[in-house]
Amino acid sequence: MTTRHFLRDDDLTPQEQDDVLNLAAEMKANRFGHTPLAGPRSVAVFFDKASLRTRLSFEAGIAELGGQPIIVDTQNTHFGRGETLADAGKVVSRYVAAMVFRTHGDERLAELASGVKVPVINALSDGYHPCQLLADLLTIRERFGGTSGRTLAYVGDAANNMAHSYLIAGAMAGMNVRVAGPSGFDPDPAVVARAAEIAAWTGGSVEVLRDPREAVDGAHVVATDTWTSMGQEEDGKDRLTPFWPYQVNKELLAAASPDAIVLHCLPAHRGEEITDEVFDGPQSVVFDQAENRLHAQKALLTWLLAVNER
Ligand code: CP
Ligand code: NVA
Repeated sequence: MTTRHFLRDDDLTPQEQDDVLNLAAEMKANRFGHTPLAGPRSVAVFFDKASLRTRLSFEAGIAELGGQPIIVDTQNTHFGRGETLADAGKVVSRYVAAMVFRTHGDERLAELASGVKVPVINALSDGYHPCQLLADLLTIRERFGGTSGRTLAYVGDAANNMAHSYLIAGAMAGMNVRVAGPSGFDPDPAVVARAAEIAAWTGGSVEVLRDPREAVDGAHVVATDTWTSMGQEEDGKDRLTPFWPYQVNKELLAAASPDAIVLHCLPAHRGEEITDEVFDGPQSVVFDQAENRLHAQKALLTWLLAVNER
């Protein structure tokens, strides 16, 4: 049987995404009641890039599942240096039940996953942040009782990993996804096409816009992210001037539905992509969203282990 991984949002079907989110809600309600990693079995979590939430939520979550997390900052190892990632993956997969990897190019995830019989999970790549989207969708479900037919507006750097994951995972969840960013920061057309294809099955929709107000108009969810993702600090692009019209502030949020919630995957650059007033305001659910990383990832690990061991 081919090993099931979670390298991109659409490595689950819409039905499977729903199953994982239902399990996440159940695990949140009964936080210490599921121990599929009892033994303990180990899960290796590799970081090519920095992290706070992902690192701690995986480490705590694996422990809560009865398992042993092995956190590896790859700078201090031979991981992919002096041997291929594919070979490293084959070695590590003899030790652990699953591998989690935060890295740069998506091809590194594909290489790690090639030929291994344990699931590999994308903990953020240049292209996608699918674990974050599971947490975001769980948060939206908690607030609105569902996702289908709701409008999600993402404004800011529409070319980054969060924009791509909102497009695909949002379409999978039957949402109307609108993304808006300045010229030169549009999403990958292949991702938009894939999201549109998914939306056609789920009853959702996908729009790429330039005007942030048009994107936010009547939206139930307003989401943003940093204008400078990890690895882009020195890319020579002006990552402030063109973005100011996309700042999530009181004026922009006023165009959304009155009961709209505000999401930010964090870390936030207060005063840039989001104002203090909105971040700390009554519509912001960013800390519930951050907490939901834990529950969503525990459910994802549990689901992936079960499906691969069937
Ligand atoms: N949202 C998120 O992935 O945060 P970290 O970079 O702190 O893991
Ligand atoms: N787009 C951001 C997300 C951080 C969680 C980055 O890649 O740095």
